[in-house]
Order: sequence, then structure tokens, then C-alpha cells
Amino acid sequence: MRLLSGSARLAGVTGWPVAHSRSPRLHNAWLERHGIDGAYLPLPVRREDFATVIPALAKAGFAGLNVTIPHKEAAFALCAEVDDFARRAGAVNTLVFTAGGIEGRNTDGYGFLANLRAHGVKPDAGPALILGAGGAARGIGAALQAAGAEIAFTNRTPERAAALAAALPPARVLPWAARAVALADYALLVNATSLGMAGHPPLEMDLRGAGPSLVVADIVFSPLETPLLAAARQRGLKAVEGLGMLLHQAVPGFAAWFGVTPTVDDEIYRIVAS
Ligand SMILES: NC(=O)c1ccc[n+]([C@@H]2O[C@H](COP(=O)([O-])OP(=O)(O)OC[C@H]3O[C@@H](n4cnc5c(N)ncnc54)[C@H](OP(=O)(O)O)[C@@H]3O)[C@@H](O)[C@H]2O)c1
Repeated sequence: MRLLSGSARLAGVTGWPVAHSRSPRLHNAWLERHGIDGAYLPLPVRREDFATVIPALAKAGFAGLNVTIPHKEAAFALCAEVDDFARRAGAVNTLVFTAGGIEGRNTDGYGFLANLRAHGVKPDAGPALILGAGGAARGIGAALQAAGAEIAFTNRTPERAAALAAALPPARVLPWAARAVALADYALLVNATSLGMAGHPPLEMDLRGAGPSLVVADIVFSPLETPLLAAARQRGLKAVEGLGMLLHQAVPGFAAWFGVTPTVDDEIYRIVAS
């Protein structure tokens, strides 16, 4: 067992609920691996308490936090400084507490791209079709654009896809009903909806129109092998799973809080997947 000293560095994940989060497992595995005097805690915080609890944790000596549903926008509002991706998303998933105040970052897009690259996929290999128009779709769209890809959004609620495309020009919008017939025009398909996640409805996505080099990425990671990924593999298409994105998006936060840049490898994947 790792024993903490009186000067241990502290970080954690705050959300409501937070019990399902795999982040404590991930960060504590890295802390163990690097022999760091520190801990990463699950911190369930109600919506109405968020704006008072977070500055108090900063004052109590925490190095920073990850932020998950439903606090990503509220966290943005608390920041003295935010990075470009957080500004574009209007949401942060990583807080770093500094002497100058609270810094906010959005590392979802970084995590998505790092996971693609780890699978040998070039983000700018061709146009990308993103299913969804929520927070994750926004972060991924912005990151793919920054990497040089053309992007299009399609979403059940078309107004949200249109608003997102307007915020990220020259992104295009496709009708939700046209998502399957348009596939041949794309090099990358990303499921950034919650469809296919355990306890949610399935994603209906016909892959018969896909070209042979289509890469199919799902950011849902519970189950690890979603029906979309299984269908892609069955057709001989390259499939990129969502857990890798979760692992990679955690790297910048860990580095900022604990001073070591950790590695995403098979051992860490197995620990967090189990
Ligand atoms: N792998 C990772 O590291 C990672 C990181 C972030 C998020 N995620 C996962 O990504 C998913 C989306 O997260 P988010 O934060 O973007 O959520 P969000 O802001 O709530 O967006 C949810 C999206 O799913 C769509 N959707 C929900 N139910 C639907 C249905 N029945 N039919 C069609 N579309 C439906 C919504 O469409 P409408 O606009 O029409 O409601 C919206 O586009 C979640 O499952 C989350 O766990 C994974």
C-alpha cells in the first residue's frame, strides 16, 4: 500500500454522480507506477454546491481536478484563464489550481486525436462525419479541424448540429436521416452521441455504404466493444474504441498536477478496462 506524507499532492474528479468514473482507477495506477506521493479522489458534488466547493478545494491545497457531467460549463465560469479548446467548447474537463487562480482546459479533443494516432490513423486523412452535437462532438470537431480535417455534423436535433457548425466554420451539416447514404464521402465516422452506451438506446447506423478505408471511431466506452465497432470490424473496417480517448485525455491533467507525463500503454488499458 502507498502511504501518503503530509505534503502529498491531491487531485480528483468531480461530478454528480461520480461513482461510475474510471478516472480514480487510472490516475491512481499512474501514481503507483511512478511512486508519486499523491492521491486522486472521487468527489461527488451537487450542482448547487459546485461554485463554493471548487474554490474551497483550491484553498485546501488540491493541485486540480477533472470535471465531468453536469459541471463542465459551470467549471468554465469559475476559471481565471482557459485554453483555446475550452474557449471554443465553452466547457472545461480539467482544472489546474495555480497561485494566479483557476486555469481551465478542455482535453477531450486532444484525447480523441491522440487515441486515433495511437491506432495509426491520421486525423486529416479525409473528411470526418461526426454523429452528435453535444459537448463531446464539439470538442472533437474543433480538434479535427485544428488537425486539418474537413468536418460535418449530423444530429437527431438538427438545430443543435446547425448551431455547432455555425460555431466551427466551414463545418457542414447533414440530415440525421442521411447519415448512412452519405458515408461513401467520408474517411472517418465518429459516434459522439450517447447511443450504444450501456443503458441507452442502440445506435442505428448502416455501414453498407462505407468505402473500404473508412475508419469508425466510437467514443462510448461502456461496453468497450460497442455494436458500432463490432459492425465495423465485421465489414473489415478499422475500428477505434472510446476507452483510449479517456486514457489520453487524462495525460495533460496528470502532468500538470503531479509533474510527470504518464504513458498510455496496454497495461494501463487493461487496469482501467477491468
Ligand atoms: N471516451 C471519452 O473519453 C469520452 C469523453 C466525453 C464523452 N464521452 C461519451 O460521449 C457521449 C456524449 O457525451 P456528451 O458530453 O457530448 O453528451 P451530451 O452533450 O449530452 O450530448 C449527447 C448527444 O447524444 C445525442 N443523443 C442522445 N440520445 C439520443 C437518441 N435517443 N437518438 C439520437 N441522438 C441521441 C444527443 O442528440 P440531441 O442533441 O438530439 O439530444 C447529443 O448529440 C457520452 O456517452 C459520454 O459518456 C466519452
